[in-house]
Formats: sequence, C-alpha cells, structure tokens
Amino acid sequence: MQLRASSVALVGILLATVGTCRKNRYIVPGATWYDTDGAVLSAHAGGIVKTDGVWYWFGQNERQEDTALFSGINVYSSSDLLNWDYRGRALSPINGTDFSPDRVVERPKSVFNAATQKWVLWFHSDNSSYGLLQQGVATSPNVTGPYTFQDVFSPLGGTSQDFGLFQDADGESYALYSNGDADAAHDNLITRMNANYTNVEEVVYTFFDLDLEAPNILYTGERYYILMSHKTGYRPNNVVVFSAENLSGPWSIQSYIAPSGTRTFNTQSTMTINVVGSHETTFIYCGDQWSTAKDLYDSRYVWLPADINDHTGSFTIDWHDLYTIDTKTGKVTYPEGTVYEAEHGVVTGSAYATICPTCSGSKIVTAITGNATLTLNNIVGTGEPQWVSFYYHNPDGLFGDNRGVSGQSFIIARFASVSINGAAPVTLRQRDGNAGIIFSQPLNVTFNRGGENTIEISGLNGGPAADLDKIVVYGNVYSD
Ligand SMILES: *[C@@H]1O[C@H](CO)[C@@H](O)[C@H](O)[C@H]1NC(C)=O
Ligand SMILES: *[C@@H]1O[C@H](CO)[C@@H](O)[C@H](O)[C@H]1NC(C)=O
Ligand SMILES: *[C@@H]1O[C@H](CO)[C@@H](O)[C@H](O)[C@H]1NC(C)=O
Ligand SMILES: *[C@@H]1O[C@H](CO)[C@@H](O)[C@H](O)[C@H]1NC(C)=O
Ligand SMILES: *[C@@H]1O[C@H](CO)[C@@H](O)[C@H](O)[C@H]1NC(C)=O
Ligand SMILES: *[C@@H]1O[C@H](CO)[C@@H](O)[C@H](O)[C@H]1NC(C)=O
Ligand SMILES: *[C@@H]1O[C@H](CO)[C@@H](O)[C@H](O)[C@H]1NC(C)=O
Repeated sequence: MQLRASSVALVGILLATVGTCRKNRYIVPGATWYDTDGAVLSAHAGGIVKTDGVWYWFGQNERQEDTALFSGINVYSSSDLLNWDYRGRALSPINGTDFSPDRVVERPKSVFNAATQKWVLWFHSDNSSYGLLQQGVATSPNVTGPYTFQDVFSPLGGTSQDFGLFQDADGESYALYSNGDADAAHDNLITRMNANYTNVEEVVYTFFDLDLEAPNILYTGERYYILMSHKTGYRPNNVVVFSAENLSGPWSIQSYIAPSGTRTFNTQSTMTINVVGSHETTFIYCGDQWSTAKDLYDSRYVWLPADINDHTGSFTIDWHDLYTIDTKTGKVTYPEGTVYEAEHGVVTGSAYATICPTCSGSKIVTAITGNATLTLNNIVGTGEPQWVSFYYHNPDGLFGDNRGVSGQSFIIARFASVSINGAAPVTLRQRDGNAGIIFSQPLNVTFNRGGENTIEISGLNGGPAADLDKIVVYGNVYSD
C-alpha cells in the first residue's frame, strides 16, 4: 500500500510537470496534426531519415502567418512516429541569395554522407515562375541543422522539378526528379549522386515521356518501388508505382496504388517510412493532402501502411481511419470503433435516407442542405477528446483523376457544420470524390461521459453538406 501510494503521488507530480504535453495514441490520416508543443505540424512535401533510433522529418514550412514563397524548412523528430518534437528551421531564407523569401525551395530531403560525415539537405530550387528548374544542396554536421547553403545547379546541365531522394543499401544515393512541365520535357530521372552527395553524376534510368512528378523510392531487400503522381497541381490524382530488381531497370509497367476513383485518397506521394521491427518490416506510404494554393497551411498528411508483394510487384494502400504502430516490433494495429449509421438518425427539412450500393447498410442520408439537419442520438462518449470519422459521399468533382486538368489547382469541397450536444458547431471539410466513392474525414470531438450524446449535422451556412453514410466513434485521442 505504502509503495502504491507513493508511486501514485510520483505519477501525479510527473503529470503536473509535463503539463499540456499529452501523448498522441494514433496516427490519424487527414486530421490536423500537432507537434509536442501544441503547434500545427508544418512539414509539407517532406523527406524522412532515421538515425540512432530517431526519425527526422523535414518539410516545407507553410504556416498561416508565414506568407513568403520560401519561409523555411522545418525539422521534427520522433521515436514513435506519433509524437513529434519541433527541432527548428533546418534552413532559413536569407535575402539576396538563391534561397531568399521570394524563391522556391521545395521538397527537402536529407541524407547522411559517411565519407564527409555531413548531413546533406537536397531540395528543388527555383525562381517564383519556375523558370530555373534547379537542384539545391545545403550541409550540416548535425541532422537537425542548421544547414549551411552550398550550391544550386542544373543537374548534368538539364532541368529538375519535383525532387525525391533515395539512399540505397550500398551507400549510393540517387536524385529523383522530373525534368519539368515544358512540352519538350516530360521525363523522370533516377540520377546517381557523387561520392559526397553534393551533386549528381550519372543518369541510371529515365522514364521517358510519362509526365509524372513527386517521386520517391523504397527498397524491400528484394525489389525497388518508385511511386510518382501525375501532374495536376495541388489537385490529387492516382499515384502510380513501378517496381524493379535493379535501379537501372528493367522497370515494371505502372499501376495505381489505391482504389480507382479515390485519387489516392486525395493525396500526392512524398515519402515512405521504413519501420524495421523485431517481428516485421512495415512500409508506410506518406502523402500530402494539399489544400489550395491560398490556404496551403491547412494541407494535411495521410500516412497509410502499404501492402507489398515482391513476387507480383504489387504495392497498394487501403484506407484506415487511424492506427497505432509499434516501432519496436513493426506491428500495426487497427482499432475497432463503434458505428452509428446515418439512416438511423433523425432528419429534418429536405434531408432523407436513400439506397446506396457502396455504403455501409446500403443506405445514406442525402440532401443535407438549407435548413435540413441530421441528428444522431445516444452516442457513447468517454468525456475525453475522441476521434470520430465521418463517412461521406461528395461526387462534385467528377473529373481530374489523372492528366489534362493542371489548371485545376483548387480543391472542391462541401462543408458540414457539426454540433456536439448543442454546442457551437465546428466545420468539417468534405473533399470531393467520384460517384459512389465514400471518403472518411476525422474530427477530434469531446462528448460527455456516457451514452446520452447527440451529433447534429447540417450544411455550413445553409450550403450543402456531403451525403452521410455513417460515423465511427473511436477511442481517446491521447494515451494518458
Ligand atoms: C529581407 O527583405 C525583406 C523584404 O525586402 C525585408 O522586409 C527584411 O527586413 C529583410 N531581412 C533582412 C534580415 O534583411
Ligand atoms: C525565372 O527564370 C527564368 C529563366 O532565367 C526567367 O525567364 C524568368 O523571367 C524568371 N522569373 C522570375 C520571376 O524572375
Ligand atoms: C551540433 O549539435 C551539437 C550537440 O547538440 C552541438 O554542440 C553543436 O554546436 C551542433 N553543431 C552545429 C554546427 O550546430
Ligand atoms: C568530397 O569531399 C572531400 C573532402 O571534403 C573533397 O576533398 C573532395 O573534393 C570532394 N569531392 C567531390 C566530388 O565533391
Ligand atoms: C544493376 O545494373 C547495373 C548496370 O546495368 C549492373 O552493373 C549491376 O550489376 C546490376 N545489379 C544487379 C543486382 O543486377
Ligand atoms: C426550411 O426551409 C424550407 C425551404 O426553404 C421552408 O419551407 C421551411 O419552412 C423551413 N423550415 C424551418 C423549420 O425553418
Ligand atoms: C483535440 O481537441 C482538443 C479540444 O478541442 C484540443 O485541445 C486538442 O488540441 C485536440 N488534439 C488533437 C490531437 O487534435
């Protein structure tokens, strides 16, 4: 008893000391992610490296208050892939240089060079009209930087747009890039770096005239997989994969990594996380779910474990509302939630339940517009922040899966107004999809403890909300 009492007291002191620093329990694709200081995690079009048991995630700083074209490269660290410490700006803009605030510094990736004992940060380097199409390099003795600018250059005299980086098991590193959007340039290159990783030396493979971008490569130990997206600006499309036994080819034909019609769950490829655990190795696809050019800061991250088959060369992802990953064993766990079907709710105004072949229970509530409402009752809550996934149907954007819509640099979304137990509503963005495609959007919600909770859903300001299939209520956001 004595012992127990004192350890309870100790836990109390520890919690009081830690204060607001609560531990995330799940990876939640498509939610707003926060760092361990409680700030919105801003690391877009990123790259990730692991060293000494810690992952370092580099990405473009796109905070709402930072309006310059280039405002910096952020770096975060984590040992569990759930809780990320902000480690500052790996690279900050300096006026009058090739990395000034009015320049483009995109898709940063860092890699350690054993020969020079330096971390080398690579990025796409450009002017504001994307007329230079170069690559840039900065170095640091420390993974988190700050990195010291070294050079920008035209790789082998050519052009380079969206940038990716791959370090092979033998220590060679490769620059991955498209050669631009001009009519004469629709190729994607895999180019070997020099011994110091400060420039490129030799093209090892060219994907001719495929017009893809946002490349990244992973290696399973048997096969290489390269993921690339089509070119549709910030609009998502169907990310494709090719595989090969050798980086110099031959490469397989391309195939989609996600179910048709989902536009890769509304994401663009950026990097892959390789979790080598004691029981299994898990590869996580990491995509950017871009918002619009005007509110890039609200872009989200969608990370989903990949299903890879080296015999067939298949690489696919499935949707999961949330999951945990044990970085020691490599094991991923998908928790069960409690389903509340929309058709069991109470509707007012124009809203009504109708048949839906792709829906849970084959029913959906549609026409949630004007003063119409849908109310789901008797929802069981814990009294703590919980994840709730809203499964919806919004077929407003029945175009733009692949090519030919690069003018559409906006997203199409409906907005729902969600009120818990009559409280002030929060807005739920419901991005467009294709006919019959049901997407899921998470919201962090605090119910009362017990089974007396209600959720009322309407269109924001009388506009149309997406059709609602169901909601799924999961466990607490935090593990403590
Ligand atoms: C950089 O340039 C901007 C815009 O001209 C200016 O506001 C800012 O003060 C400059 N910063 C430094 C450190 O010179
Ligand atoms: C960017 O560089 C290209 C090539 O030098 C040039 O034609 C274009 O005018 C530049 N754009 C800006 C905004 O400086
Ligand atoms: C690298 O990190 C070490 C340990 O944190 C620190 O002492 C050193 O000053 C850093 N070096 C640079 C160049 O930032
Ligand atoms: C690589 O770095 C070493 C040591 O700094 C230097 O002597 C050498 O010239 C560099 N080689 C290249 C290809 O940059
Ligand atoms: C990969 O291709 C290169 C160039 O053709 C060749 O030198 C190398 O032996 C190949 N590696 C394997 C594992 O087949
Ligand atoms: C809801 O809107 C419809 C159509 O505009 C209107 O006829 C109806 O009176 C409204 N109902 C309420 C309760 O405001
Ligand atoms: C969840 O919501 C609570 C209450 O609004 C908020 O304080 C917290 O930052 C949110 N956490 C996450 C991870 O979204």
